[in-house]
Amino acid sequence: MATRPPLVSAEPRRSELLAIVKQRPLPEHIAIIMDGNGRWAACRGRERTFGHRQGLETASQIVEFVGQELKIKHLTLFAFSKENWRRPRAEVDFLMNLLIDFVQRKLDELLRNNVRLRVLGEVSELPAGVRAEVERAVVTSEDNDGLYLNLAINYGGRQELVRVTQAIARDCAAGRLSPDHICENTLAHYLYTQDLPDPDLLIRTSGEERVSNFLLWQIAYTEFWFTETLWPDFSKEELLRAIADFQRRQRKFGTVVEP
Ligand code: FPP
Repeated sequence: MATRPPLVSAEPRRSELLAIVKQRPLPEHIAIIMDGNGRWAACRGRERTFGHRQGLETASQIVEFVGQELKIKHLTLFAFSKENWRRPRAEVDFLMNLLIDFVQRKLDELLRNNVRLRVLGEVSELPAGVRAEVERAVVTSEDNDGLYLNLAINYGGRQELVRVTQAIARDCAAGRLSPDHICENTLAHYLYTQDLPDPDLLIRTSGEERVSNFLLWQIAYTEFWFTETLWPDFSKEELLRAIADFQRRQRKFGTVVEP
């Protein structure tokens, strides 16, 4: 006799997971280090660029899911680091063109979905074509207030802190700011993230368990979640599992929580 499929599968389906995570407070801000595109392509005997292209598709699906289904307010994606310039020229060029492609193909959809796009990182150092497209998307979407999508491009946490220090020093030298009045909020105001809340949850894919110079100031109390999954294979279900795990954690922010 043929075996019947089980009535209830061991793994909750996406709709069930979605219903579960929606019962509890969702993270207000999720940040993701999208790692493993190159290995995903290598496993298939393909060029690294093939992995990046698929990585962009995964990113697009996650953006839509976070904004439309989960209605989470802030999503920050690490798209290109300061250190990524050290990659082979052809790969850097490909990634830059992929950013242009993302804006050109997805901007209308992002606008329809009330997404506001912002860039964390040194936009002025990007190739002119990328800068123009990215700035166009930032300006066109600036009145939207659904999902705040922050793309970290040409971003490095240490470089961000150097930039902040320079700006603060300049304002002190010009008499606009008193050193005695500098506090955590002052510093936060000078960061690329300015008015954004700190990430509640940081996800990194591909089995690497490092921060890699990402949002160093902002992740002081962020919960981390690591997965072996390579970024192109990262799914909405896995995002829901990460959120469910986050919801089970007790965040103490240095205090004692009474039982
Ligand atoms: C790290 O994987 C990934 C990157 C350096 C690029 C990430 C970019 C994308 C996913 C596409 C652009 C996305 C948007 C939203 C515009 P890796 O290449 O280091 O992988 P590996 O560790 O397996 O080599």
